[in-house]
Amino acid sequence: MSSRARFAFATFPALFALALAPACRPQADDPSFALLGGDTTIFDDGDEAFAYPLRNMTTAHRGPFQVGDGIFNRNWVTAPASPEGNDGLGPTYNAIACAACHDNNGRGAPPTSDGEAFLGLLLRLSAPGNDPHGGPLPDPNYGDQLNPYAILGVPPEGTPRVSYTEMPGAYADGAPYSLRAPTYSIDALSFGPLAPGIMISPRLAPQVVGLGLLEAVDEQTILGFAAQNGGHPNHVWDEKSQSTVLGRFGWKANEPSLEQQSFGAFRGDIGITDALYPTENCPPSQTACNSAPESITQPNLQPLFADAIVVHSLGLAIPARRGLDDSQALRGEALFSQIGCASCHIPKMTTGTLDGWPELSNQIIRPFTDLLLHDMGPGLADGRPDFEASGSEWRTPPLWGLGLVQSIDGDLFLLHDGRARGFAEAILWHGGQGEAAREAFRNLSKHDRDALVAFLGTL
Ligand code: HEC
Ligand code: HEC
Repeated sequence: MSSRARFAFATFPALFALALAPACRPQADDPSFALLGGDTTIFDDGDEAFAYPLRNMTTAHRGPFQVGDGIFNRNWVTAPASPEGNDGLGPTYNAIACAACHDNNGRGAPPTSDGEAFLGLLLRLSAPGNDPHGGPLPDPNYGDQLNPYAILGVPPEGTPRVSYTEMPGAYADGAPYSLRAPTYSIDALSFGPLAPGIMISPRLAPQVVGLGLLEAVDEQTILGFAAQNGGHPNHVWDEKSQSTVLGRFGWKANEPSLEQQSFGAFRGDIGITDALYPTENCPPSQTACNSAPESITQPNLQPLFADAIVVHSLGLAIPARRGLDDSQALRGEALFSQIGCASCHIPKMTTGTLDGWPELSNQIIRPFTDLLLHDMGPGLADGRPDFEASGSEWRTPPLWGLGLVQSIDGDLFLLHDGRARGFAEAILWHGGQGEAAREAFRNLSKHDRDALVAFLGTL
């Protein structure tokens, strides 16, 4: 116990009284609870807190990380343009920069009212059936994602819309709440109707910090969680190895690696081709898209920048937890375990060895995820399977960093499509395998509900 912690303990008898409730309360004494990302953890809780490289980053990675930061924030332009190297936007796209959706490396926001443009929220599409690798089958005319924007002279694919219906509910103590249920539709389709039986999956841009550590978690560790909590891993197609591997990233664990996730985003979201996805995102019926002028840089993303963006994705650091001496938050942490949240949002694990990344290897981390899929019930279902994820399954998202999103992005929208306007609403949407924990939350006193939410705010 540090002398500072001992002092705090002695001065606040209230904290001591609370400490009697759960078995033990070591957080206030043990600074490692603050190190959500082990030795990689950085210390900043301001609006730039998601912008740092791993605290222990090797010199060899620091240069590429800075280059990657520039690429992540770059606005891509229509080809042909000079100077060459940052053209090739579209022809159709969702945004002109990674940072347009992942604002400050943080989260996107759904449109706030009917008719507002979509930016940080995108719609994945698929026709019934599977592609040759067991993945979603793209719509023949629109591909696997709606691109609502396009360069001059090329029609955008269509206009996504969302409308919300308020659903009133009440906690066990009678206190009212309201959840908003979204309905999605697509107007102004440029290439005829969507495939019969089309399935639409809305996906919000999540924060992109701490992800290298999740890539470094051993498969055996993840399978061990599955044996305990009833979740299961996704298995997805890996373009690089041309094989089916464990999925980790995306809301349905639908991507195997940060490399594939990032290169997929370049081509699918921005229209920038890369070594992994060298062809333009233009289905055959989109003639103007297919005949649009091309950049002389082929693929559009130069190898140096491609390497750098992967280092950036692996190297963005998770900030430290705050409030280790906040008795309300510590009570919330105990409740988090007691009511079953921790069975899926697993608080602590040790990473394995990631080739070329000693910084990320063998770190004790506190991400609050199991990286597994869980059935979350009909309320959250998108009805669109994604490899081995069913239409009602989602990957347990990591909860680290969520307490900083409000100050970094100006607002906090949670769940796969940002329908939840804060922590309590996110919990109240849990169904299926999460229903028992949700009901336990609904039955807590206001004092305890506030404590649980306060805990999440310290992450
Ligand atoms: C149009 C908005 C948008 C743009 C632009 C965008 N992303 Fe994303 N990003 C998303 C969404 C939505 C997801 C979740 C995808 C899913 O569930 O399939 C995501 C997920 C990710 C993830 C994985 C996060 C996790 O926790 O699993 C990484 C890493 C990422 N994006 C990096 C990038 C990079 C690098 C770029 C630029 C090349 C980029 N993104 C551009 C919307 C966007
Ligand atoms: C059965 C596993 C499971 C349990 C138990 C569980 N969760 Fe979740 N949680 C999930 C999954 C899966 C999602 C993603 C659902 C979605 O996006 O539609 C999620 C989403 C969340 C989110 C939103 C995260 C984000 O990035 O938007 C929060 C906050 C959260 N859970 C907190 C809790 C708390 C607090 C409890 C306990 C009351 C809890 N969860 C219990 C699996 C679980």
